[in-house]
Amino acid sequence: MKTASPFEYLAQPTNLVAVRFDGQTYQLPKGENLAAALLAAGVRSTRENPGSNAPRAAFCMMGACYECRVRIDGASVQACMIQVRDGLVVEKMQPIGGQSYER
Ligand code: FES
Repeated sequence: MKTASPFEYLAQPTNLVAVRFDGQTYQLPKGENLAAALLAAGVRSTRENPGSNAPRAAFCMMGACYECRVRIDGASVQACMIQVRDGLVVEKMQPIGGQSYER
């Protein structure tokens, strides 16, 4: 799996499953940390800052910073707390009116 990502797996991932992110399909390793898998796949941003619209992405990878928030099944979740599973549909978090996230 060759990507434009600066992140690489130590070993070639196996058991890839289809995950949709922001309308695009990625083949990601089943059971992998979703935030890490998206970064490795070349996804550079999972949300935008509600004030500045600046792109944001996973930072702490341990559930503390909330920078990796995405929407799955209508709920705001931290991508670093989710495992990749087949058929996952993930949406980028979009601020409403430039001030806050929709609930
Ligand atoms: S990367 Fe910090 S909460 Fe997910």
